[in-house]
Amino acid sequence: MDTTMALYFLGLLFSGTVHAAYCNSFISFTTGKEIYKKEDAILPVVINTWAFTNATKIAWKILANGGSALDGVEKGCTQCEIEQCDGTVGFGGSPDESGETTLDAMIMDGVTHDVGSVADLRRVKSAISVARSVMTYSKETLIVGESATQFAVEMGFKSESLSTDKSKQIWEDWKKNNCQPNYRNNVSPDPTTSCGPYTPLKVLQAAHKNSEPRFSKDISITNHDTIGMVIVDTEGNLAGGTTTNGANHKVPGRVGDSPIAGAGAYVDNDVGGAAATGDGDVMMRFLPSYQAVESMRQGMDPATAAQDAIKRILRFYPKFSGALVAVNKTGNYGAACHGFGTFHYSVRNANMKDGNDDVLMCDREARSVALIHTWNNDKHQNVPSRVNFGFYSHGTGYTYVNGRVRCQFIRDKILTSPGYTNWFDMESNQYHFLFAYGPNGRPGESEKHTTTPCVSTNNVDLSLNQAIEAHSDDDDDACATTASFVLVLVTALLSFVFNK
Ligand code: GLY
Repeated sequence: MDTTMALYFLGLLFSGTVHAAYCNSFISFTTGKEIYKKEDAILPVVINTWAFTNATKIAWKILANGGSALDGVEKGCTQCEIEQCDGTVGFGGSPDESGETTLDAMIMDGVTHDVGSVADLRRVKSAISVARSVMTYSKETLIVGESATQFAVEMGFKSESLSTDKSKQIWEDWKKNNCQPNYRNNVSPDPTTSCGPYTPLKVLQAAHKNSEPRFSKDISITNHDTIGMVIVDTEGNLAGGTTTNGANHKVPGRVGDSPIAGAGAYVDNDVGGAAATGDGDVMMRFLPSYQAVESMRQGMDPATAAQDAIKRILRFYPKFSGALVAVNKTGNYGAACHGFGTFHYSVRNANMKDGNDDVLMCDREARSVALIHTWNNDKHQNVPSRVNFGFYSHGTGYTYVNGRVRCQFIRDKILTSPGYTNWFDMESNQYHFLFAYGPNGRPGESEKHTTTPCVSTNNVDLSLNQAIEAHSDDDDDACATTASFVLVLVTALLSFVFNK
């Protein structure tokens, strides 16, 4: 091999090595493909499940006053515990079979991967703060039941009843209704018609039969679920957390997904974070928050990662209800849901004058659509109650879907009965939805909206998956072509000089 050939092959080798390094530093700050650039980061960001906007506001305030992401998550979630958000967070909600309210909560530090959790916590109201105490004042991760209460009391928390008149009434009504709904299985008397006590039936084990998910009607627009929150602070440090009183009428001792790291929430400082809400008995079997973060590590955008995690559950439990919010280290966020009809989440970032209560439509394919809009600051503030729906618009509003697709919403007609049906018609590229508003987001008047055909604002396909894939591949190809071209040119030049 003469000098020219040797230098040529050396050059090709060099070209390949530098191509990889060049592309990684250009595109990515984590392993894998990352379609967002660090310099584009919009931080800080607070995102949480459901329209629990006061929790978002408090968390934002903590950050604004120099608090850490962990402080923001703790105080934001505490706000929901105090407000007893939708009756499913904090004291006085979801009585178990014996009428007692018990709490699950978790907090996770993305910097250290420290986790503090409590489950089946009894007689202590501040579950998320007890979880933080587990992280701070012990080397444990999860403490449960009466022992969690004892730990909390030792750490200075007050022990008091979590029952309220409302929770007592819910329990009375349940007893009167023959203990329905009921989560016992294969017991006598028949748990679908009778209260306990129960004894086990002899069961011929049917091979590979999975249990039924909780009815989606148990989780509705007026009866949400867990608050799960993720914060990325200005330094790019992450924290996540959850707090809930779990499932109404649960079997005593039942623990859901919320206090389980990777299920209820998960954060990794290298990548981003995710938090879940929904049927925890099903969701915790799939660690969807962990899955979403790992998918983001591989280069998926947050909405697609959330959608992918939901799809993995749907393969086994097509009737489950649940949702995920996800955010990456650059502050891009998204969500996906299934079984709720619509799913609200609350978000605030540095680009928003106010917080936004976004809503996305859970369709049969669990298609993930993150809507970014600013109605909070416009004339719709005059609506008598806070409108809990991101689409609210009289004729001229534009809504951006993932920042890439624009749809114009048209007021259609007022309907007399509320409805929550939403769908995206791929044929006509139109969104259709029914929504209602009333005090605190409770059903009230209802309107039917549809859109003009949605258009792409960025020359991308309306299918978000394809758009993101194409976008990402384009970047890679451009990167590879440029790097290879430059280096082969340098090699040729060197060869020429050496052969002179
Ligand atoms: N996702 C809350 C629970 O199932 O307990």
